[in-house]
Amino acid sequence: MKRIRVFAPGTIANIGCGFDVMGLALDGVGDVVDLSLFDNREELAEEFGNSLYSAENCTLGIKNSSSVKLPADPAENVITPAIVKMCGAYSTRVQKPCHLYIGIDILEKIRPGSGIGSSAAASASAVYALNKVLDNAFTEEELVDFAMEGEKLISGTPHADNVAPAIIGGVVFIRGYNPTDLIKLPVPDNFYCTVVHPHITVSTKEAREILPKAVERKDAIVQWGNVGGFVAGLLMNDLDLLGRSVKDVIAEPYRKGFIPGYDNLKEELLANGMIGVNIAGSGPSVFALSKSEEEAELARSIMEKHFSNLNIGREVYVNKVGKQGARVL
Ligand code: HSE
Repeated sequence: MKRIRVFAPGTIANIGCGFDVMGLALDGVGDVVDLSLFDNREELAEEFGNSLYSAENCTLGIKNSSSVKLPADPAENVITPAIVKMCGAYSTRVQKPCHLYIGIDILEKIRPGSGIGSSAAASASAVYALNKVLDNAFTEEELVDFAMEGEKLISGTPHADNVAPAIIGGVVFIRGYNPTDLIKLPVPDNFYCTVVHPHITVSTKEAREILPKAVERKDAIVQWGNVGGFVAGLLMNDLDLLGRSVKDVIAEPYRKGFIPGYDNLKEELLANGMIGVNIAGSGPSVFALSKSEEEAELARSIMEKHFSNLNIGREVYVNKVGKQGARVL
């Protein structure tokens, strides 16, 4: 039996302008899983019970030892489709039919719906761990493809802007999906991100369905100008250019209605020196980028006050933008 413990970080998808094509990893907040590869079903069932998920190339047991409530049925867990796809691909890679007996114990979990890539951290940690016990049979791009199956389960569409930074770390730009083409951008040392998760429920599926299917040319021009500006800002280590580029005319105008007082909160954060403010992923969390820990802490107090005045419970995370993605602990 082989066992490995892996951490995968929380992430902020879109980063304002890069809907479905950009995301960043956070430092210090994430999921921890233990993955075990057993020799047979009996050994797996002995440790993981009999509610196992069976597919052609694997049998999977999932245990939740974290403090967060998760669906008990493995078919509803984002880890399952990611691992099933990876095991099918492994059989092809080793050119012989094989069946893997895998147990995953979730030890630490980002709260689902927190806006910092909870589902992505789960599937990213699982595929990263399995790849390690399979002696790195797959590339990072391939792991991202597998982990995207989890995103498809919860949102209806596979997208990589959370899973890619959760696996690779840093700020990741997804140039294309067919095939997946990932670019890891340089991350300045003094780059901070504060995220508030107001206790409001907005599903990713709902937040995607609200968006218009077509984009007007005038909006497309604004958006791709900003994506270019953001990427150039990182390459030139120009955080002011990057901040000016955290603008979104594609999703923010439609999604901000889910977040009470969003415009006022954003205005106050920007007036207090934050370089960029927008909706984290599909929301309802809001992030603020800044150039120092002091500013990141100031963003925390502004966010706390905003939602406290509205009697809305919340958590606030203050993190450096993480350079590292998933890793063995
Ligand atoms: N790019 C995705 C969205 C991120 O905005 O819907 C959330 O999973």
